[in-house]
Amino acid sequence: MALRTLITRKTLTTAAPLASRGLHTFTLPDLPYDYGDLEPAISAEIMQLHHQKHHQAYITNYNKALEQLDAATAKGDASAVVKLQSAIKFNGGGHINHSIFWKNLAPPRVGGGAHPHDSLGWAIDNNFGSIEALIQKMSAEGAALQGSGWVWLGLDKEFKRLVVETTGNQDPLVTKGASLVPLLGIDVWEHAYYLQYKNVRPDYLKNIWKVINWKYASEVFEKEMA
Ligand SMILES: [Fe+2]
Repeated sequence: MALRTLITRKTLTTAAPLASRGLHTFTLPDLPYDYGDLEPAISAEIMQLHHQKHHQAYITNYNKALEQLDAATAKGDASAVVKLQSAIKFNGGGHINHSIFWKNLAPPRVGGGAHPHDSLGWAIDNNFGSIEALIQKMSAEGAALQGSGWVWLGLDKEFKRLVVETTGNQDPLVTKGASLVPLLGIDVWEHAYYLQYKNVRPDYLKNIWKVINWKYASEVFEKEMA
């Protein structure tokens, strides 16, 4: 890991929190790999901007909205509390989704792109026919999503089955159902691919599978099914 990158990340993650009256605020999580480690599937430039600028902006705005909510609640200002809901959903969702996304990726040298041959692999075969069929389905649904959003592989805990869903903007998977747990989420906002793939979202969705961390998805699946 490049020392300069590490220093930059540490500076960001140890920035003074905006906490007031014990309010819990959020800081940018470290990536478990270096920005250039996912090349050529995803460029270092995209990874750095996506992490340091985009994810950081969601966190900054989420913290700001939480502080405003805290103040509005203390004052009993019902109108202000309601007004803050969309900012909380959008920026809080952005923080939740990106925190999962970083863990959904891994460099090929540590297993990124390697398909699961475990209980998740078996469940994928059972639900979708094959891993190739699942990849094709998620890529097609991600490409077809209008505007910005996410395509997900989730576990429906109530029915113990895997589902593919899309969400718009920064809506987390749970907005599609209270029993849905995200195993794998792919960001299809332009900021996730435009610098490298321009407007060709399907090419991004073809290459991202080379760095998908199925091991993480398997760990979540096994924990939730236990
Ligand atoms: Fe993003």
